[in-house]
Amino acid sequence: MKYAHIVGWGSYRPDKILTNNDLARMVDTSDEWIFTRTGIRERRIASERETTATLAFEAAARALVVADMHPSQVDLIIVATSTPEYIFPATASRVQDYLGATRAGAFDLSAACSGFVYGLSMAAQSIQSGAVRNAVVIGAETMSRVLDWEDRGTCILFGDGAGAVVLKGSSIPGGVLASTLRSDGSGGDMLSLPAVYHNPMPMLGPEYLRNGHQKNTVAMNGRQVFRFATQVVADSIEETVLKAGLTMDEVALIVPHQANVRIIETAAKRLRVPVERFYMNVESMGNTSAASIPIALCDAVSEGRLRPDDNVVFVGFGGGLTWAASVLKWDVTPPEVSLPRREWRRARYIVARTRSKLKKWRRKIIDTVAGSPTPNARMRDADKKQ
Ligand code: UT7
Repeated sequence: MKYAHIVGWGSYRPDKILTNNDLARMVDTSDEWIFTRTGIRERRIASERETTATLAFEAAARALVVADMHPSQVDLIIVATSTPEYIFPATASRVQDYLGATRAGAFDLSAACSGFVYGLSMAAQSIQSGAVRNAVVIGAETMSRVLDWEDRGTCILFGDGAGAVVLKGSSIPGGVLASTLRSDGSGGDMLSLPAVYHNPMPMLGPEYLRNGHQKNTVAMNGRQVFRFATQVVADSIEETVLKAGLTMDEVALIVPHQANVRIIETAAKRLRVPVERFYMNVESMGNTSAASIPIALCDAVSEGRLRPDDNVVFVGFGGGLTWAASVLKWDVTPPEVSLPRREWRRARYIVARTRSKLKKWRRKIIDTVAGSPTPNARMRDADKKQ
């Protein structure tokens, strides 16, 4: 029997901070309204040079340092995101290239704010089945690029960032113990983000899109999502803890999707668990969708909230509708990685980038010699930007 243990974790948050007071200068809102309704004070915003893939890469690289693992040992990379730069190539493939994870399969996973828990469960099962030995699961978002900055009902909630974990197969019992994944597509319109080619009024033809009627921004019915979330968070935690053969008293920490303090407080009440057992960093990060749980996990670890052998629960909910929970035993103490070794690790990503560029040049030369068209100009420009 194989067990999938978390052996590395890392997060990345962009430098730029957008406070509630900054938002109050953009839309009709206030720090007081946002903080009392959501618990959010500020969020991070990606710079022009940053993309979901670069945020994901930074988080994954940090997680691999903690795991003391070479990228070539990674068999699978899953990026949970709702804000990929491209439908394809997958963000995960770009991360694979940036890392130089030459032996990894890579794909994106779309389950909105539940995506990280879905990805964790998929990766753990791949390890448990023996199909892969090691996997990197990343939640990464640039939500700021898909918000309507004139809609005060949504733009105040979200932020950018990325978090990652490294999962490793082991014969030692522990790691991911149980997961529950659920969906209710009938509630899809409660929280949505149209794809670029989606025409919501097909009877009016493509002209409708050309006239600028389409909005590729997040739309949400806040009250309905709030009601849905308060129901599913408590239920899915309870169900998964039971599946893992544990009781709520044996759970040391719950790391929920960071959407709203009031949702978390309501779930704590329903479960009759002290709210202190829920980790929260929504105040400083806002809602980073699929990235929120792994970022919160990293903060919890650095604040000493997790000790070896603690049972921890991750719970996510969001668009789809989707919701998911995982229970795991936190049983691996990271090795001490010395500073020179850390720096050496960073250097190999420069080697990976150089190797990637050489491969592109080689293809270009072959194209020129063979007389076929040059590669996709958009991708080339994106590469130049980074
Ligand atoms: O990852 C999952 C993502 N989504 C969520 O987690 C969202 C869950 N829902 C929520 O967190 C809450 O529903 C919100 C924070 C979005 C809204 O809080 P609420 O207590 O449900 O407010 P509401 O939508 O019922 O609106 C109350 C009032 C309305 O004014 P009227 O109609 O009572 O005059 C809104 O127009 O607050 C107004 N309002 C605002 N006022 C100041 C809505 N947004 C704002 C705002 N600033 N940003």
